[in-house]
Amino acid sequence: MTPRTLGTCYYPEHWPEAIWAEDARRMARTGLTWVRIGEFAWTRIEPAPGELHWDWLDRAIGVLADAGLKVILGTPTATPPRWMLDRHPDMLAVDAEGRTRGFGSRRHYCFSHDGYLDECRRIVTLLGDRYGRDARIAAWQTDNEYGCHDTVISYSDAARNGFRRWCADRYGSVAALNRAWGNVFWSMDYGSFDQIGLPHLTVTEPNPAHAMAFRRYSSDMVVRFNRAQTEILRAATDAPLLHNYMGRELAFDHFAVGRDLDIASWDSYPIGFLSDRTPASAARKARFLRQGDPDMQAFHHDLYRGVGRGRMWVMEQQPGPVNWAPHNPAPLPGMARLWAWEAFAHGAEVVAYFRWRQAPFGQEQHHAGLLRPDSAPAPALTEAAQVASELTELPTAGCARGDVALIVDYASAWAWETQPQGRDFDYFELAFEMYRGLRALGLNIDILPPDGDASGYGLVVAPGIATLPDGFAARLDGLALLGPRTNARDTEMATPVPLPPALAGLDARVTMVESLPPGADRPLAPGGNFTRWVEDLEGDADTVERRSDGAAAILRAGRVLYMGGWPDETARDRILGGLCREAGIGTRRLPDGLRLRDTETHRFWFNYAPEPVTVDGATIPAAGVLWVPH
Ligand code: GAL
Repeated sequence: MTPRTLGTCYYPEHWPEAIWAEDARRMARTGLTWVRIGEFAWTRIEPAPGELHWDWLDRAIGVLADAGLKVILGTPTATPPRWMLDRHPDMLAVDAEGRTRGFGSRRHYCFSHDGYLDECRRIVTLLGDRYGRDARIAAWQTDNEYGCHDTVISYSDAARNGFRRWCADRYGSVAALNRAWGNVFWSMDYGSFDQIGLPHLTVTEPNPAHAMAFRRYSSDMVVRFNRAQTEILRAATDAPLLHNYMGRELAFDHFAVGRDLDIASWDSYPIGFLSDRTPASAARKARFLRQGDPDMQAFHHDLYRGVGRGRMWVMEQQPGPVNWAPHNPAPLPGMARLWAWEAFAHGAEVVAYFRWRQAPFGQEQHHAGLLRPDSAPAPALTEAAQVASELTELPTAGCARGDVALIVDYASAWAWETQPQGRDFDYFELAFEMYRGLRALGLNIDILPPDGDASGYGLVVAPGIATLPDGFAARLDGLALLGPRTNARDTEMATPVPLPPALAGLDARVTMVESLPPGADRPLAPGGNFTRWVEDLEGDADTVERRSDGAAAILRAGRVLYMGGWPDETARDRILGGLCREAGIGTRRLPDGLRLRDTETHRFWFNYAPEPVTVDGATIPAAGVLWVPH
């Protein structure tokens, strides 16, 4: 078992060489093990085409390793140098309005551009040749945060040409494509693949089949881009390969990218996320302003443990205020420690704080580090040192197998963005709310892809999966809660007939769907409501729950339940609680802000609340962590 360790993200190219050695010694003194470097350093490595400057990087690696640190080397492909644009003027991505995105920040490339991909192969080959067998490089990161700044989808010429080839491969003939997409609908038939454009700038919405095909293509381009690097690195090194993913980023299939890597790492910015991407009421956002949402980090730890097939790291951990959210408050004292321990309890092998020293120039000057710009300690440095010393006292243990599995599917996010049918039908929110409900019951959760191995779980929850893989229900051993919108589209975004959900053994059909504006909830007889989304169901399956108007709300056959709506909190908690009771899964309703995670040896408690909480006779302060052996 890989021991739990800490690290930080460091940019030697940002600092005078004279301070590197002292920085490295301080990192080691703080108890850090890992240092990630290089992921934005292309211009310093290659200031002009073919002119390679390795000397500074050799020395930086040497200085860090001499202090006993293990280096994670990033490939620098998220920041192509300015000269790259002179070689490949058409490599930039194009937005949905048809505007070319410009140079001057980062991620300025289109995943479909073959010329840029070759340049990436070239620089990764050079890095691999130079450092692949260097034992000081203990892990490799490909690029950085695929998808960040909305960069997966591009409407460039390269994307259009690539999409035409992709369509030719997928459909074989243009007649088959016309059939699959239902192009007869508005006389949209094509006569050849060369006539196919990208699904933007259409007069009204494009054909959803066209839009969905382009989403699949765009995700495949990310997989291709990453694989181009891993193929080179695999031959060059035996060190583990990882990519560094984001929070709430669904534009590409992370499970597919993850299959080419050894570890999934991600960037945990709890306070930034609460401000700009967590569904929560204003009151809840105020309560957790300085702690972050109590379930958002855990959701991603569990998701990325799934993406990494058991191996998960946090590559960037928020240490203080960030710079990029609408508002950027500072963490409560203790949170930089709590977040790290929560990650470890959810199976993280490494937690690295971003960044070592706050930058006094560039775009992120308001982003805290472990050090202030004047090198004095920032508040999180003490907390990192505390975690480091606690790590030496607590033996590493893997996280316990989940009590429950939650299925998360990227293609469903694309499907429901393509045809939401209601402005607030958001797939992430649906999955996240079910996760929150399970976690508030004190459960350990594993997150799996739809084709993952969900056998052996007493309960599997799979909300909103647009197209379930064949035989999904047959592979389950326990109860399964499906719906709403399960199997509501086939892979070409057509409504299947017989009508959904078309699950073997469950005689149930969705005969009508309604999306509901706020305030128009549909009450359920046993309490709570369907909100946002409600379906009319028919069929001979058992009705196990009704709406107050008498219509079926949940149908059941054997262990499979189909829920015809989006449950509000009251309904969700009642339904999940009942299923856990039936499945013999012990639950425990946790007070708001208190959360738990079991490892193989301990139960960890995390208090996200801004006030102390008492659990099993122990009082945990605000931002406190408690671990108790099983
Ligand atoms: C991440 C990114 C870092 C830095 C950080 C700021 O998205 O990987 O390079 O920008 O955010 O919070």
